[in-house]
Amino acid sequence: MTHAMPDRVAIAAHAKANLFLRVLGRETSGYHGLETLFVLLELADELTVERSAAGIELAVDGADTGPVEDNLAYRAARAVLDATGQRFGVRMRLVKRIPVSAGLGGGSSDAAAALHAVNALAGSAIPRNEILQLAARLGSDVPFLASGAPLALAWGHGERMFRVPPPAAAPVLLVVPSFGVSTPKAYELLDQGRAAGQTRGTVVLDADAFGTWGGIARLGGNDFEIPVFGKEPALRALYEKLCATRPLLARLSGSGSALIGLYRSERDRDAAALELGERDHRLLRTATRAAPAPAPAA
Ligand code: C5P
Repeated sequence: MTHAMPDRVAIAAHAKANLFLRVLGRETSGYHGLETLFVLLELADELTVERSAAGIELAVDGADTGPVEDNLAYRAARAVLDATGQRFGVRMRLVKRIPVSAGLGGGSSDAAAALHAVNALAGSAIPRNEILQLAARLGSDVPFLASGAPLALAWGHGERMFRVPPPAAAPVLLVVPSFGVSTPKAYELLDQGRAAGQTRGTVVLDADAFGTWGGIARLGGNDFEIPVFGKEPALRALYEKLCATRPLLARLSGSGSALIGLYRSERDRDAAALELGERDHRLLRTATRAAPAPAPAA
């Protein structure tokens, strides 16, 4: 099969949230085994990638994401260029709309988008299963975001996934505090709160529970809520206020700091936004995605 080789592609890098998240235990490597339900959100960054003669350039608009070489999109581009024999370089432009250090998978989604975009410039030389392999090396959220699935149960380090058909798209309110939470710090706090060797117990997940947002809400919360709210009492107070707006589901997303509320209707969501106000935090209105993530477009 031959593939067209575009010189420039654009791709939306959608945010994720975790509808439940259990940290199963600390492994000898220091990493943690997870079990989580990922959902894709409409909120997205935008990545454009252009072929250049050699090297990698990255310009970021809309947020301070730190040194370019550490950016996950940069590292993803390098992984694909290395795997395809460095036949060309890329000039990337990233427009950030997903808040950073918020647990919304922004950096990971940029990486997933960069894997697909640079591979598209290489005529899709790298097969999909190898793209997912590269994704897993970049972080625990990247395989889900590279898979395109709108809803998936994931485990291990996020490299094991079970696609779940999503319920109809639900309106979402994201509550984004003025401070971020560092993921390694959140794992450290969680470990401190657990006895050494403590396990997460036995569970049987019932497929029927995944059919509605209410059923998903009853599957439980996020293990980071106790340690992160313990360290940031203002975030706990905000979470309690979010719960009082009667969402279908309210959670800390990932290791925070963003909170996610899912609502029955846009009207309920907008009423919740009015109740919460925007004094010490930002509110973003979005929705869960019912369709798979888009592929790169020329
Ligand atoms: O996957 P991500 O890049 O978000 O990971 C950031 C940090 O969080 C890791 O360097 C590690 O300290 C911790 N982590 C972990 N177990 C995981 C994922 C992340 O301990 N499954």
